[in-house]
Amino acid sequence: MRWPKGLTGLCYGGDYNPEQWPAEVWPTDVELMRRARVNLVTVGVFAWSRLEPQPGRYDFDWLDRVLDLLHDGGIRVALATPTASPPPWFSLRHPDALPVTADGVRLSHGSRDTYCASAPAYRAAAREIAVALAERYRDHPALALWHVHNEYGTTCHCEHVAVAFRAWLRARYGDLDSVNDAWTGSFWSQHYSGWEQIRPPRATQYLGNPSQLLDFRRFVSDELLAAYVEQRDLLRAATPDVPVTTNYVLGGWVPVDHARWSAEVDLVAIDHYPAEIGPGAEEQTAFAADLARSWARHGQRTGRAGRTAGPPEGRNPPGGPAWLLMESAPNLIITPDRMHAKEPGRMTRHSLAHVARGSRGAMFFQWRASRGGAEVFHSALVPHAGPDSRAFREAVSLGALLARLSEVDAGTVRARVAIAWDAASWWALQATVLPSAQLDYAAEVSAAHRALYRAGHPTDFVTDGDDLFGYALLVLPALYLVSDRYASRIRDYVAAGGHLLVSYFSGIADEHARVRVGGYPGALRDLLGIRVEEFHPLDPTIRLPLSDGSTGRLWAETVRLTGATPSVGYLGGLLDGQPALTRHGYGDGVAWYLSTRLDDDPYRDLLARVAEAAGAAPTCPAAQAGVEAVRRCTAEASWLFLLNHTDAPQTVPVSGVDLFTGVHVDRVVLPAGGCAVLRET
Ligand code: GAL
Repeated sequence: MRWPKGLTGLCYGGDYNPEQWPAEVWPTDVELMRRARVNLVTVGVFAWSRLEPQPGRYDFDWLDRVLDLLHDGGIRVALATPTASPPPWFSLRHPDALPVTADGVRLSHGSRDTYCASAPAYRAAAREIAVALAERYRDHPALALWHVHNEYGTTCHCEHVAVAFRAWLRARYGDLDSVNDAWTGSFWSQHYSGWEQIRPPRATQYLGNPSQLLDFRRFVSDELLAAYVEQRDLLRAATPDVPVTTNYVLGGWVPVDHARWSAEVDLVAIDHYPAEIGPGAEEQTAFAADLARSWARHGQRTGRAGRTAGPPEGRNPPGGPAWLLMESAPNLIITPDRMHAKEPGRMTRHSLAHVARGSRGAMFFQWRASRGGAEVFHSALVPHAGPDSRAFREAVSLGALLARLSEVDAGTVRARVAIAWDAASWWALQATVLPSAQLDYAAEVSAAHRALYRAGHPTDFVTDGDDLFGYALLVLPALYLVSDRYASRIRDYVAAGGHLLVSYFSGIADEHARVRVGGYPGALRDLLGIRVEEFHPLDPTIRLPLSDGSTGRLWAETVRLTGATPSVGYLGGLLDGQPALTRHGYGDGVAWYLSTRLDDDPYRDLLARVAEAAGAAPTCPAAQAGVEAVRRCTAEASWLFLLNHTDAPQTVPVSGVDLFTGVHVDRVVLPAGGCAVLRET
């Protein structure tokens, strides 16, 4: 993991699209950026048609001027390759590079992301524009970071993809028999007798094959990664000292396994747009930030930097694996119905929430609000109203605040609790007809994270292959797919003294989405000391009383004990007296099993109890509900972030130097919606 060249302290800025504005505006932009203490901007993300107006004819003059102006203003540049938005001439010239939907419809030009990543013409054009940019700007003093593409995530089902998918399958399985076996080809006569018969999963008469759909998602992730790596290597060859990254987009539709990708980026960069306007926005922010930090850690361990015995001096920033909030919305939360204007102070709180969990700064989409185009009403640091606006004044004050916080960049978040995260389980649950429409991987993982967040624990996410032994507690929510290897690593973790809590629908199937028979959860039965004979999916209106006074919902199971002891039971109905929550001592550790969905408060209480028994303490027990407390630390120092998400003032009895004021305090008084960062003493 590496840090933008020439930048110290926290990054602040965002996407800057000067190509949308006359040149007279550019010096004003730089002047306003300086006023707001912006130090990094992403330039050129969607500028392909301005950079290469005709095939092979480049126009860099305008970009030269912009980069010079930024450099003169002391602002560093994350220079983007514009490959997420090919120009109209490209699509007309190469109609075979336009993407085909699962319904077989070839899309037309007219938006962004309208390309097929497997089309040779697209890949060649992307390489050419990346090389042209690298050659032009390799020595430009403003260049701090390469920002490849934008939010890789498009899928195509064309003939180019069919060829690439078959090649990927050959590499993964070797022979066709193994594919047929992994995909349960004997079901509905889907046994393939020649490679050419295999196609990307297109629209078909009835249900598709879940294992094929799962492998297709894996393939798309690898195919997009190959497109990224191709550009990265060209950029690295031209500028070995400039780090390269791409910004991740999060969402159920995204066919990218970000943990896997993180081995290939020099710093993990995420875009984050919460989808709720209430306290859910803050919970989603913590979730995304914890994920990003965990991907960075995973990438550092599995990628190039992690493989070297010790990173060369200066390569790794001191604060642990690098990650950066690359985009967020300055002044709105977009819901399906409307764009909600963020309340004063919320942009600052959201930004600090990311920094608290390890982000090396706060970046936004975008610098100046567009005056036309598809996102004309998206918010910006400089809104349509111009700099004489509340939004810009908050941008200026955030810049000043971040400048005062630069010392926190040395600190790492140390989580003692981890949640398993697995893109393949998510994809498999989307592809399979499940016993309940309410069974939703992302919702299950979020519920566990929310419970720990509300209990005051920072949480890491782990994926298969990550070291588990440093955690006091590991939670597996709906970890549908578990390979033999992963199961044995989880077993080793518990045997060595780890505490584990598994929730329903984990360990059900192997890595090919084939159910493990003999009783659920096949991969973890012995570890949990239970055997589940039957599922009982519940109507969303039903609540099952439990013996501890809480209720179960959405899901219940017939759990047989094969070594575990019951801790909480079902009361009444079909499952009366049977266990809902069990505990099993295994080696030196403990394995819990939860067979139903608890409401948020009892789930928080359960995880708080289990974490405490495991030896994990919350960050700041003195913080009131609604006050988020997160600590970053080094061996010598620590910084406590306190974010008051309530609409009342809160006082937290902790002492240290308040970095906003420089004054030592023995208690922190947070105004409604306010924040503080303490250097602890
Ligand atoms: C991001 C994207 C930006 C912009 C933004 C709007 O996902 O990278 O280019 O579209 O969404 O919220």
